[in-house]
Amino acid sequence: MNIYRALGSIHANFLKNGDLHTTVMHNTYDKFAKNSSAEDVAFMNYGYHSLDVSEESPVLDPKDEIHRYPIQLYHKAVSGIDLEGKALLEVGSGRGGGANTIKKYLNVESIVGIDLSGEAVNLANRDFGGEGIQFEEGNAYSLPFDDNSFDVVLNVESSHCYTQFGNFLSEVQRVLRPGGHFMYTDFRITKDIMNVRNHLNATDLEIVLYEDISSNVVKALDLDTYRRLEMMERTNFSPMEKKKLYYMSGVKGTAMYRDFVLGVRTYYRYILKKTG
Ligand SMILES: C[S@@+](CC[C@H](N)C(=O)[O-])C[C@H]1O[C@@H](n2cnc3c(N)ncnc32)[C@H](O)[C@@H]1O
Repeated sequence: MNIYRALGSIHANFLKNGDLHTTVMHNTYDKFAKNSSAEDVAFMNYGYHSLDVSEESPVLDPKDEIHRYPIQLYHKAVSGIDLEGKALLEVGSGRGGGANTIKKYLNVESIVGIDLSGEAVNLANRDFGGEGIQFEEGNAYSLPFDDNSFDVVLNVESSHCYTQFGNFLSEVQRVLRPGGHFMYTDFRITKDIMNVRNHLNATDLEIVLYEDISSNVVKALDLDTYRRLEMMERTNFSPMEKKKLYYMSGVKGTAMYRDFVLGVRTYYRYILKKTG
């Protein structure tokens, strides 16, 4: 892409999003969608692996084994509620692998994924769209859905990108039906964990569960490091961009990995319920 087209796309996204940070996220994930294979980045999260031998790992289709750890994060994120017959909205659905996994393994009735990146949404519809599963371009701060339209809202490793976290939570509360659940997982610098809790406390959603799953994420990164390194090599990024990708990948040896091990960053999961 030449410099004028790149600037044009940043400008168009800025007009759409209204702030610079969200625009940078939009462009980053559009670019990622264009420069990596669908198979490689159907998932864009750090993964999860159980440390408890009595916790059973999900049985997967052999062709999904390659994505076992990111898939396990999705299974963990929705564990604790029954999805059968439910209408689910995923905010920040990325390339659609997570929504697909939930539709395929967990008996949900319907699932809609929304994501800021139009490029990612197009690929998600191409690879996973079908009956009861579709993807739309949209922003977490202003969800394009009626009040009380979903039984479950899911958000996996996306909210750390948001500049308007409070608006996002108000929107989650608005689109959830009474009795519905917000299944929420992400990471933060540990000293900011209380900010997340304060934002959640400011909503009418009831906190049903909070878990620190950092050690499980570290375990998954340990087990998935080689696949991630090979995947980065296969992207069409420049050497400088690959360096940035390496940092973001969280593999063993990166500052991100070290932060999780040392507790500088915390990976957490919440279940919240709309009571009223
Ligand atoms: C790290 S990826 C995770 C994707 C997916 N949840 C997964 O685990 O594979 C973060 C995603 O959040 C999306 N995102 C970032 N800011 C957003 C916003 N304001 N509204 C909707 N999606 C957003 C990005 O485009 C990206 O696809």
